[in-house]
Amino acid sequence: MYEIDIHLLENPYSIFIKKGLLNHIGDEIKKIYSNEKIAIITDKNVENLYGKNIIDSLKEKDFDVKLIVVEPGEQSKSIDTLKKVYEELLAFEITRGDLIIAFGGGVVGDLGGFAAATLLRGIPFIQIPTSLLAQIDSSVGGKVAINLDQGKNLVGNFYHPKAVFIDPDLLKTLHPRFFKDGMAEVIKYGCIKDSGLFEQLKKYPSKEALMKEIEQIIYKCCSIKKEAVEKDEKDLGERMLLNFGHTLGHAIEQYYQYKKYTHGEAVAIGMYHITQKSEAIGITKQGSSNLIKEILIQYGLSYSFPEMNKSENIEAIGLDKKNKGTHMNIVLLEEIGKSFIKKIQREEITQYL
Ligand SMILES: NC(=O)c1ccc[n+]([C@@H]2O[C@H](COP(=O)([O-])OP(=O)(O)OC[C@H]3O[C@@H](n4cnc5c(N)ncnc54)[C@H](O)[C@@H]3O)[C@@H](O)[C@H]2O)c1
Repeated sequence: MYEIDIHLLENPYSIFIKKGLLNHIGDEIKKIYSNEKIAIITDKNVENLYGKNIIDSLKEKDFDVKLIVVEPGEQSKSIDTLKKVYEELLAFEITRGDLIIAFGGGVVGDLGGFAAATLLRGIPFIQIPTSLLAQIDSSVGGKVAINLDQGKNLVGNFYHPKAVFIDPDLLKTLHPRFFKDGMAEVIKYGCIKDSGLFEQLKKYPSKEALMKEIEQIIYKCCSIKKEAVEKDEKDLGERMLLNFGHTLGHAIEQYYQYKKYTHGEAVAIGMYHITQKSEAIGITKQGSSNLIKEILIQYGLSYSFPEMNKSENIEAIGLDKKNKGTHMNIVLLEEIGKSFIKKIQREEITQYL
């Protein structure tokens, strides 16, 4: 089993990665939690596939388990769904000594984590991420949130789980589009911090070949995120590197109202496009954008910037909550595996569009 310890002053915790982990999750949780009550928040898809496995494993260890099931998809990161989750948790008479498990993709992780962070001023929680994106990104780092009509993740908190349990076998049932979506973020880690990972990803001739080494790939990605989170828990410096490709990616997602492109698909385009521009300006090593293009093609991701009105585009970027005032931060590559944050005047963004 791979283990990563996240060293945070107030909330240290560990990430465990192992194929088949879900089947003995009861044993693992017993090691770190001694009360009985556990509320599992999940979505319908994950419940249908794995609800019985998790419940059986927990009940075998005599836990008193309640399953709270939300609709799959981004629309569940809403105040309405959050309210229903609170109501079900209260009906279960949960207390601050009990445990919540967020069992699902990034939506369930963010929603369940936010419910855990806020109900009764905070209930301990564990992440069991089930999508690739959640296993390499959203379950690590403590960001939890829901959306408002005005934008994504506008109500949230930093609230770390007690542990993260990752079972890569669960990815076998993930829809190929969501797998690809997560792969964009895996590629991002290679681009910003690890040219070795980037090279490794280039060598897999098929998804099957990649899946044979998926535990180690997830381990590498989580280790990169761990470093960024430890250095910059509240996302004010180093952690921003994780936003490589996201400024343009968010603009694309927003422009198409989150309907045409998944997050990863939009980030993929953002990574290629911004690198193409920074290369042309002379900031990034020649040939880097081509390497990104080739790997995106290899993993079935698009790289070409969609037809978009530039001024609307800038407006969308301006709405990005991470960018404040007259300046904005963008993440650029020196070369594959080396990234940095560049502070630019807001108008200068046009050079990168
Ligand atoms: N907190 C963070 O740091 C952070 C970071 C990145 C993204 N996010 C958030 O994550 C969310 C996206 O996460 P996501 O891509 O996992 O979306 P998601 O949670 O909607 O999951 C994608 C789909 O896959 C299904 N699914 C999940 N696991 C499955 C499995 N093992 N087998 C079959 N189907 C499965 C889900 O039911 C859903 O339909 C966004 O809301 C985004 O804002 C958060």
